[in-house]
Amino acid sequence: MATGSERPQKASGRMTLVVGATGRLGVAISRALVARGDRVALTARDPNKLEAMSAELHDSGRAAGMRAPAPFVVADLTKPDAVETIAHGVRTKIGAIDDVILACGPFPRTPFETLSREDLLHTLTVHAVTPLLLVSALAKDLAKANGAVIALGDSGTSRPYTNHVAYLTAKGALKTGLRALAEELAPDVRVNMVQLGIVADPEADADPLRTHRLAARSALGRFGTPEEVVHVVLALLDSTWATGEVWSIGR
Ligand SMILES: NC(=O)c1ccc[n+]([C@@H]2O[C@H](COP(=O)([O-])OP(=O)(O)OC[C@H]3O[C@@H](n4cnc5c(N)ncnc54)[C@H](OP(=O)(O)O)[C@@H]3O)[C@@H](O)[C@H]2O)c1
Repeated sequence: MATGSERPQKASGRMTLVVGATGRLGVAISRALVARGDRVALTARDPNKLEAMSAELHDSGRAAGMRAPAPFVVADLTKPDAVETIAHGVRTKIGAIDDVILACGPFPRTPFETLSREDLLHTLTVHAVTPLLLVSALAKDLAKANGAVIALGDSGTSRPYTNHVAYLTAKGALKTGLRALAEELAPDVRVNMVQLGIVADPEADADPLRTHRLAARSALGRFGTPEEVVHVVLALLDSTWATGEVWSIGR
């Protein structure tokens, strides 16, 4: 089956699994997909946030034809059974999914002086190992739907910053792993990444001057907004002639 120049549309919208669906960018992407008439399935760790998000999407999506709350699967990507939990949840609650958005994971500060094996293994697991295995586990569903995978990467993998060796190593592994998967899964499944500058600085409260410094470092002199990220994610999701690509925004 060759990937065509049109994305196959479905009467009830395409079904996208959003991993990290309760985070600031996962929420924005899920809302945008529902607003354009697609369906979403959500996964993250916190069942309460997932339930609230599922109900909120149902409310906002009624106008776009959403008939039931968004299905969700609770899973911790650091656990060895995470891939099976999500794949099983997808099969039993949803049937099959068409596309995957990887918007998951923490942004741990790991000062170099105290960097540990655990920091590296934990961060690699949540940001790279489990997401790559999850895409492999769902590959048959994705191929049937001529699906796409979009991951959120970090521009620090091209222009590193301090205190985040574990995170940047993991995001770099994800980027290379996804480009390799793009080759493995072509032409049926497209696999791409949107590599971002900063949308939110988790350390802003502790050091507002740092936030100012970081914003000034970027060419446009400011942080991005979730809406600006969503715009590019949806464009890449729909870009039927792109696979193995890394689109950078917010340098
Ligand atoms: N925001 C930025 O400025 C920025 C810049 C560059 C790249 N990115 C990348 O963009 C993506 C989304 O960023 P964000 O700002 O939206 O992140 P966020 O607000 O911190 O959200 C992270 C999401 O991942 C989930 N998550 C965290 N640890 C998990 C685990 N062990 N197992 C399962 N789910 C887990 C969280 O769910 P729970 O609450 O249930 O744990 C949440 O849904 C990330 O991959 C990040 O690296 C963000």
